[in-house]
Amino acid sequence: MCGIVGYVGKERCTDILVDALRKLEYRGYDSAGIAVFEGDRIKTVKAKGKIDEGLVKKLPQATFSATCGIGHTRWATHGEPSDVNAHPIGNGRVCIVHNGIIENYREIKTFLTGKGYGFESETDTETVAKLLDYYYNGDPIEAITKAIEDIEGAYSLGIIFREHKNTVYAVRKDSPLIVGKGDGESYIASDVTAILERTRDYYCLERGEIAVLDKSGIRFTDTHGETVEKELLTATWDVESAQKGGYEHFMLKEINEQPDALRNTVSPRIKDGLPNFEECGLTAEKIRSYRQIFIVGCGSAMHSGMVGKYLIEDLARVPVVVDIASEFRYRNPLVSEGDLVVIISQSGETADTLEALKISKRKGAETLAVVNVVGSSIAREADMVIYTNAGPEISVCSTKAYAVQVAFMYLFAFEVAYALGKIDESECRRLVAGLEEVPQKIKECLEDVSPYQYVASKIFNAQSLMYIGRGLDNALSMEGSLKLKEISYIHSEAYAAGELKHGTISLIEEGTPVIAVATQSALFEKTLSNVRTVKSRGAKVVMICKESEQLDKECADFKIGLPASEDLFLPLISVVAMQLIAYYTAVQRGCDVDKPRNLAKSVTVE
Ligand code: F6R
Repeated sequence: MCGIVGYVGKERCTDILVDALRKLEYRGYDSAGIAVFEGDRIKTVKAKGKIDEGLVKKLPQATFSATCGIGHTRWATHGEPSDVNAHPIGNGRVCIVHNGIIENYREIKTFLTGKGYGFESETDTETVAKLLDYYYNGDPIEAITKAIEDIEGAYSLGIIFREHKNTVYAVRKDSPLIVGKGDGESYIASDVTAILERTRDYYCLERGEIAVLDKSGIRFTDTHGETVEKELLTATWDVESAQKGGYEHFMLKEINEQPDALRNTVSPRIKDGLPNFEECGLTAEKIRSYRQIFIVGCGSAMHSGMVGKYLIEDLARVPVVVDIASEFRYRNPLVSEGDLVVIISQSGETADTLEALKISKRKGAETLAVVNVVGSSIAREADMVIYTNAGPEISVCSTKAYAVQVAFMYLFAFEVAYALGKIDESECRRLVAGLEEVPQKIKECLEDVSPYQYVASKIFNAQSLMYIGRGLDNALSMEGSLKLKEISYIHSEAYAAGELKHGTISLIEEGTPVIAVATQSALFEKTLSNVRTVKSRGAKVVMICKESEQLDKECADFKIGLPASEDLFLPLISVVAMQLIAYYTAVQRGCDVDKPRNLAKSVTVE
């Protein structure tokens, strides 16, 4: 999604802004631009395409002595990607960068057209820029306050006024924005990774607050002009973790970081060998009081919820409803007081997920956010928060953030089962100890990547692919299929193995690749018979199963063997195999692995 940056300080700001924008590239974008104070004017440069191919080529050499400006990477929503639709947008008097969507932009445009304003772009953003200009009467705070009273939707805005030289204003509603505090300089950014190289200290701007950044420092006011005191936060993520560190892609680096990421998620929530979530207020007593558990998220986060459902229902014998946030929010969900709603999100900013959280709260449920980004909107809104501690995930395609969400689901399922008396203390300890061994098993899977490269070399030309599995393996396959399609652009479907014969098997023809995940002994023979059925219809089968399984040629063309482990943990270990198959397939097809087409890292629009 779009990215915002802004700088006020002593240094020449063009390079600072462009560098910060590069750090936001991972969010997904199709044009980029900056606006800076140059003499008495605001100078804007913007271009369609990648920062280095568009914007940077257009920057006039040595003309920018400016020390204050704003910048943007745009992910088109209203109007195609083009130079004119790129941000910053304004009229020489007021200039803005905007994330989010202005829902009532048509009404505002009609109103302003009636007042004599003309519009050049197709964007909703231009209506805000012109509205600010309309209300501006020498006082920026007053103009901002009046404008945000009129606009509906989600937004974060970075604003400069020509008459208020070297000052950046910022305001937000629902789209995130942080304000960074450096040594004699300050920043705005849509996320902390943009400024990590320059400072770790930042404030989270809240709804209804206006930030004013100038040479004297940073001030926050409310919309009545009253000063707001805010807590200064310090980012714990280091610069290295937001860089590639020698790997060809962030995705590969993040896959390799999974053993550590899992430990960082699980270990702080284990006390004396048992799960313990009291840090966030989730006590055994509370767990016993819940009527029902809901798990809500989007994409990979929702897939981790599917794993949670299998685990919790199996171990704790309580019903779990898993829902896609964009469906949940519009179907008047049967959530009420006495329910627990677990909201899962890497970014903590996904618009649909955030709304699902708000609806759950309004309906009286208790909410538990499982998020990776500290201080994100979902983390701040929820009643209880668990941070997954995976470190920054830069690749658009989620890997380590998904794996730690799944690891959380395991520990959470153990805790619920134990709290409800469905497993005794020694069984709970045994399960926790088993989970603690998973990072080492994942490490073993990462040691030799040749099996995944081999599979990639066999499937990279395929038109379409099928993932099959039963139970937990089915839940994990959904994620495997999503990884493959999002980065390699090969169509794939994940299907419950036993359901194939009810229609989908007609897609199998000579040479169709099928990835069968069969890690569970109790279901192995069942899945194997589904595998034989597709094999006899010409499928080329890759089996992901225990190393110890003996397979003949009628079953599988190739086996990916997983290290010995208790069945329960094998699906979590198999995640790595599916991620690496997708990764090497995308690499062989020459795809932009870290920035797949049409996708954004943080989906802050509906
Ligand atoms: C896929 C992927 C997405 C996200 C989804 C939710 O690789 O990353 O499916 O999982 O957009 O994002 P968060 O977790 O930030 O709410």
